[in-house]
Amino acid sequence: ATAGKVIKCHAAVAWKPNAPLVIEEIEVAPPQKHEIRIKVIATGVCHTDLYHLFEGKHEEGFPAVLGHEGAGIVESVGPGVTDFKPGDTVIPLFISQCGECRFCKHPKSNMCERSWTTLSTGIMAEKDSRFTCRGKVIFQFMGTSTFSEYTVLNQISVAKICDDARLDRVCLLGCGVATGYGAAINTAQVTRGSVCAVFGLGGVGLAAVMGCRNAGASRIIGVDINEDKFGKARALGATDCVNPKKHSKPISEVLSEMTNGGVDFSLECVGNVAVMRSALESCVRGWGVSVMVGWTDLDDFSARPIQLIAGKTWKGSLFGGFKGKDAVPKLVLDYKSGRINLDEFVTHTMPLDKVNDSIELMKTGKCIRTVLNV
Ligand code: APR
Ligand code: ZN
Ligand code: ZN
Repeated sequence: ATAGKVIKCHAAVAWKPNAPLVIEEIEVAPPQKHEIRIKVIATGVCHTDLYHLFEGKHEEGFPAVLGHEGAGIVESVGPGVTDFKPGDTVIPLFISQCGECRFCKHPKSNMCERSWTTLSTGIMAEKDSRFTCRGKVIFQFMGTSTFSEYTVLNQISVAKICDDARLDRVCLLGCGVATGYGAAINTAQVTRGSVCAVFGLGGVGLAAVMGCRNAGASRIIGVDINEDKFGKARALGATDCVNPKKHSKPISEVLSEMTNGGVDFSLECVGNVAVMRSALESCVRGWGVSVMVGWTDLDDFSARPIQLIAGKTWKGSLFGGFKGKDAVPKLVLDYKSGRINLDEFVTHTMPLDKVNDSIELMKTGKCIRTVLNV
């Protein structure tokens, strides 16, 4: 009996940058053509939410409802929706898969054309949103806005998953775990027996470690300045852990000595251009591949041309290179079969109204993932 009506519900609203989120009653409009309204059940808190709020350029995109790592149930569908019905279990996608554009049709990319507005402005479509609060339009951050009891997305931005998965776990496949795991499997294309290094052992980096392990790497070196992260890294497959702060030499030299000239694959999961450079420099010349995974748009990156001239490859990926509608349902099955571990990532669970505590935990590095029960 909510179909076709405005739903009033709770959401965590980011009214402005550098301020705590505020739990508000918001109005969520019914889904329009090709859209779906979703009851969010659980959402992870990712560093990119923190980035938008505290670290980014803050020019656009406020007020907004953050959150892009969620899972939920379809409440109602708008006209022309063919792929979903009320009651379906779903994961919202911040990169759509329209299936028709040049990028969707190309096997090598997930950069669906219809995602770009979302990526550049952080809202569902140019100046478009289904949320209002206190008479103001509230933007839908990354199009997903999972820090809300209800959200609305276009059907091209939603993956339908099996009905019996734990939503407070598979929500992590909406961003962090898929991002890191896919960066290793799809983008780096880590090979059996190879030597890998993962820089940054948060949710994204730990998922990259797991990807390297599942790809059959023989050695996986975790690199983080916070040694509290090493236990989980080892649990997910790291064979060595290194703290760059404990060494007087650059970390690339340390890794080069440990690996007889450099690693086969390195993945940057911090979002820091200096670390991106170190990750590249840590690769072996001739065939080393370094992948940028961490997000930043504050600085340009740099490196000496000889790094690439000598035969290294520097690349990047978004959402692990996965085409979301196709891949996320399969990743859920991989969790159910035990091939992907999600339980290890969830260090804290709390209700949505404690969202500011979860942001504080991430700021201070005291968690891998907090899952909010919405
Ligand atoms: N060298 C190595 N590790 C570092 C460094 C550094 N110079 N600086 C920070 N780190 C580590 C932190 O200690 C932390 O463990 O990087 C990790 C980052 O983890 P989280 O903050 O939990 O972030 P996560 O959610 O994993 O996202 C990582 O990917 O999607 C992007 O926006 C996201 O840029 C962020 C990155
Ligand atoms: Zn994220
Ligand atoms: Zn597309």
